[in-house]
Amino acid sequence: MSRVILSPQHPLSAGLTGESRLVRAYRGERSDTTPVWFMRQAGRSLPEYRDLRVGTRMLDACLDPAMASEITLQPVRRHRVDAGIFFSDIVVPLKLVGVDVEIQPGRGPVFGRGYADAAGVAELTAVDPARLDAASVPITEAVQRTIAELETTDNGSGTATPLIGFAGAPFTLAAYLAEGGPSKDHLAARTLMHADPGAWRALMEWTAELTGRFLRTQVLAGASAAQLFDSWAGALSLSDYETHVAPASAKALAHVHDLEYETTDASGAAVTRAVPVVHFGVGTGELLGAMHGIGVDTVGVDYRVPLDIAAARVGAGVPLQGNLDPALLGAPWPVLQAAVRDVLARGEAAPAHVFNLGHGVPPETDPTVLTRVVELVHEAGA
Ligand code: CP3
Repeated sequence: MSRVILSPQHPLSAGLTGESRLVRAYRGERSDTTPVWFMRQAGRSLPEYRDLRVGTRMLDACLDPAMASEITLQPVRRHRVDAGIFFSDIVVPLKLVGVDVEIQPGRGPVFGRGYADAAGVAELTAVDPARLDAASVPITEAVQRTIAELETTDNGSGTATPLIGFAGAPFTLAAYLAEGGPSKDHLAARTLMHADPGAWRALMEWTAELTGRFLRTQVLAGASAAQLFDSWAGALSLSDYETHVAPASAKALAHVHDLEYETTDASGAAVTRAVPVVHFGVGTGELLGAMHGIGVDTVGVDYRVPLDIAAARVGAGVPLQGNLDPALLGAPWPVLQAAVRDVLARGEAAPAHVFNLGHGVPPETDPTVLTRVVELVHEAGA
């Protein structure tokens, strides 16, 4: 694969985020303390988010660069986390190429129709995914605005705060597309996979191309790491995952694997490094090894598998991210504190650990509790 060197202004090339706790952890190095951020750290748990969102629909907020940037920054300022995660959604690239989708509050992505058979897939895949690039101006602008402010946001680590870009993995997007909306078991997608493997492959390849471009846009614009969310992959057997899903996820990631930056290593020698990539899904205990195997640096673990056991499953040398049960955020402080310390202790089984939740922040979470968790991780994870 030919290499593309990120621009000298990119925070990784400019030496602003490459030595941050987060980026160091993603390449397997430990820092002065354990880095921490939370999935869904931006959103309804924050009163400043709820105020800003009044009267604006979710996808309109994602496509307003000033608003998306402000929402991304809110939890970084408030909690002093070690990363911002770009405020957007996994269905934004679909919206940008003209797919009929909206996000219903309390429900999630809902499509004008389902794409559960060959005819539906043919209609969807008739749209050229390359059209996304021209439509991505609001994404690039939102990322640029965000990193400009993150460059001067030091959470106590002595470096700029990195921005994580993200995208939905092809299976998780297909789980919504096939059904036409959220579902519990993603049956329509799992049926299509076996009923019409050719249509399934076409759907996965199209989705990989689209979501991969979305991720690449964020990294080129200034994100210092990339996370691929295969949230619903836990609905699959290992063999279905390996045969019908993993190749498409690898294709999506190929859109960022060629992006590199030039820097110096600890001894001062010039080195070229790749942009770090994280892969996460819910209920994926059986798939952790295979999810690492598609070619990622760090594996995100949900709360069902303790990190020391996850470390044994993914193999030596793989940094882990996770995995406090979000339910514990509503427990009394001594209970929560013990759970945080337990996650930190188990995380020592990995070469490096990025503290996170096992899934997203529940909307009803008291945000002062999240700030306290960040303080505890920074103090106890040193
Ligand atoms: O802070 C962050 O983590 C960044 C923002 C982010 C959002 N969606 C914003 C959002 C990220 C990383 C996502 C990814 C996403 N979207 C995933 C993968 C991560 C995961 O949670 O497993 C999935 C499965 C989706 C699809 C989706 N979008 C769901 C299930 C929902 C929730 C529906 C609801 O209202 O509970 C959404 C909407 C959504 N995406 C919200 C936010 C902040 C809530 C919208 C609101 O505030 O009205």
